[in-house]
Amino acid sequence: MKKTDLLLTGIGCLYTPEGRVPKCGEEMGRVRQIQDAAVAIDQGRIVMVGQKDEVMAALTAEEAMIKETLDVGGRIMTPGLVDPHTHLVHGGSREHELAMKRSGVPYLDILAQGGGILSTVKSTRQWSEQELYDKAHRSLDEMLLQGVTTIEAKSGYGLSLDAELKQLRVARRLQENHSVDVVSTFMGAHAIPAEYKGRTNDFVDIIIRDMLPTVASEGLAEFCDIFCEEGVFDVEQSRRVLLEGKRYGLIPKIHADEIVALGGSELAQEVGAISAEHLVMTTDQGLSSLAAGNVIPVLLPGTTFNLGLDQHARARDMIDKFRLPVALSTDYNPGSCPTESIQLIIMLASLNLKMQPEEILTACTLNAAAAIGRAADIGSIEVGKRADLTIFDAPNLAYLPYHFGINHTFGVIKNGTQVVWNRTLKTKAVQGEGVR
Ligand code: NIG
Ligand code: FE
Repeated sequence: MKKTDLLLTGIGCLYTPEGRVPKCGEEMGRVRQIQDAAVAIDQGRIVMVGQKDEVMAALTAEEAMIKETLDVGGRIMTPGLVDPHTHLVHGGSREHELAMKRSGVPYLDILAQGGGILSTVKSTRQWSEQELYDKAHRSLDEMLLQGVTTIEAKSGYGLSLDAELKQLRVARRLQENHSVDVVSTFMGAHAIPAEYKGRTNDFVDIIIRDMLPTVASEGLAEFCDIFCEEGVFDVEQSRRVLLEGKRYGLIPKIHADEIVALGGSELAQEVGAISAEHLVMTTDQGLSSLAAGNVIPVLLPGTTFNLGLDQHARARDMIDKFRLPVALSTDYNPGSCPTESIQLIIMLASLNLKMQPEEILTACTLNAAAAIGRAADIGSIEVGKRADLTIFDAPNLAYLPYHFGINHTFGVIKNGTQVVWNRTLKTKAVQGEGVR
C-alpha cells in the first residue's frame, strides 16, 4: 500500500517564492507565507504544501498513512538555499596576502605581480585530486550546515588542460557523493597563467583548441565562464571563448564589470549568457542590456565587503528601474571572498544592497536556481519540486539579516531526506569519501 514518505508539521511560518521562472523587479518581493504549515513529501518530491489542517484534509486515506512525521517545533522554513557562484575546488589559502591587502595594494595589482588567483593556481596544480576533494568536501559540509542544498562550482585554478580536468573531476565526484548538489562550470579563462604572461591570445587559443573539446566530450561542465576584466580577458577574447564554449553546448556565464566597466554586461546579452556576475561598476546601458537579454544578475556583496570597496552593485536600480531578476551568491573563493557563509551574504545584501528580506529570499532561492538553469526543479516549495528545505531557528524571515554573524540553520531536508538536524550533519552527509 502506498504511504507518503515524510510529513513535516509544526512549521511556524513557511516562506517561498513561487513559480518555475525567475522573479523580476517588484515580483521579487512577493513571497508566499503560510502560518502553521505542513509539507508532504514522497520519493524526494513535494506532494502537498499548505496550512496544516488543509494538508491533512486533502490527503487521501492511503496518503494519510505516513511513513515518518517530523515536527519542526514552530520554526520557520524556506526552500533550500542555492549558491550559484562559487570557486569551490582549489588548493591552499591566501592569508599571506592579507598584510598586502590591508596596506592598500589593489586586487588586480596583486594578480599582476603573480599572486592572487595565480598563487592559488600554484597550489591547485600541486595538490592531489584527493587533497582537493577533501578540502572541498569540508566546505560543502559548511554550506549545508548554513542551509544550502545546491551550488555551482567553477574550475579556473588549474589553467592547464590536466589541472582544469582535475578540478572538474573533483566537482563531479562531490556531486556523486555529497548531499549538496554541485553544478559545474568550466572557467579555464579565469587568469593568464605565468607561462603565458604577455601572450593572452595564445592562451585563449589553448582554451579553445584543447580545453573546451575535452571538457565537453567528458561531460564535465554545463556552463562556461570567463573573467572579463581590465588586464585579464578583454571583451573580444571573452566573446571568442564564450561563443566557442556555446558551440560545445556550454551555456555562457560571465564575470562582468567587477572592477572596471569593460562592456561585459553588453557582451552577456550578445552571446545569450544565462547570467552575469559581480556587476559592481555596470552602467545604465549595461543594465539595459541585461534586461533585454534576460540575463540574470548574480550579485556578490561578500566580495565588495572583503575587498573593502565603497561601491556596491546597484541592486535597487536593478530591481526598481530595470526590473531585473537579481540573484545572490557567496562567490566563495580563497582570495576575494573566503567564506562559505550564505547567511553573511544575506546580511550584506540587506546592509549594502538595500534589499528587503523577501527580495533576498527570492534572490537566494528561485532566482539563484534560475542562474544555474534549475528553476523548474528547485528554488521554491511547491508541488512537483524537489523536496529541498531549510529550517531556521528564527521567528520570522526578517530576523535572518537582522541578527547577524551566527548560523540560524536548525535543519535541512535534501531530496526528502533529513541531512541536518539540531544543527548537526546527519551521518550520510559526512560519509562521502572525504576524510574529516
Ligand atoms: O569571482 N574575480 C575573479 N574571480 C574570483 C576571485 C578569485 C580569487 O581571487 O581567487 C571572484 O571574485
Ligand atoms: Fe567568481
